[in-house]
Amino acid sequence: MNGALNGCLARAEELARQAGALQRERVWSPFDIQYKGEIDLVTEVDKACEEMLVGGLAASFPGHDFLAEENLYENRGSSHKWIIDPLDGTTNFAHGFPWFAVSIALEIDGEIALGVVYHTMMDEMFTALKGEGAYLNGRRLGVSSRRPLRGSLLASGFPYDSATDRENNFAHFVNFQMGARGIRRAGAAALDLAYVAAGRLDGYWEAKLKPWDVAAGQLLVREAGGMVTSFDGGEYSVYDHRILASNGLIHGEMVEMLARPAPLHAL
Ligand code: IPD
Ligand code: CA
Ligand code: CA
Repeated sequence: MNGALNGCLARAEELARQAGALQRERVWSPFDIQYKGEIDLVTEVDKACEEMLVGGLAASFPGHDFLAEENLYENRGSSHKWIIDPLDGTTNFAHGFPWFAVSIALEIDGEIALGVVYHTMMDEMFTALKGEGAYLNGRRLGVSSRRPLRGSLLASGFPYDSATDRENNFAHFVNFQMGARGIRRAGAAALDLAYVAAGRLDGYWEAKLKPWDVAAGQLLVREAGGMVTSFDGGEYSVYDHRILASNGLIHGEMVEMLARPAPLHAL
């Protein structure tokens, strides 16, 4: 294994655990909440975690660039860029619903090379290095072997502007609800992807996500033997608008479902 990358992974894991510890300490006590939009929240804990992660990584790797949810960072033109969601599942966190994560990825020369998703309340550390497999608390992960779609458990999510924008995922949701065993909307995209990697979910789709929601999780899925594409089955980048991830075996059926028109129930 590449020694430098291994050092990056160890540091990212250490900082993810520290941010997670802060989240566990604060989740059921009062904290400051601000509104980014009508329903889109940010808490003081999101900001404190971002400071902890970016501060810690910048101290260990001076010169690296950062793309994180809560702040803009100076672009130094580095080949290494950390892509960070300090608290994925903020709505859950703000409501005391214990389902949220820390997500950290490292992009090197335009490719996501490292991914860490720390499931705070379960103390589960999902990690992946490109070409080296995906792991959960050190144990190798593999996607499920479930098929067809009718017997599959899926996950998805809805954008914050689903009340006002037509690309709201409602039609896809109804189509999949009629075509799969079930759908979970747990509220943390990074965990949805980590769960596909772990074989606990068979597929996941969502639109309007940001690179920090998906960068680490999509690497976990690929490294666990799964498939990650755009909705039409084409190549996917974390800067794209729509993501489809699965165990590979139900991918074609999911692409076909995403191309279907809105069912009567969703009109
Ligand atoms: C959100 C979560 C959610 C997804 C949203 C994301 P945040 O991230 O990942 O599952 O449906 O669209 O924005 O705001 O909790 O970091
Ligand atoms: Ca997020
Ligand atoms: Ca977040």
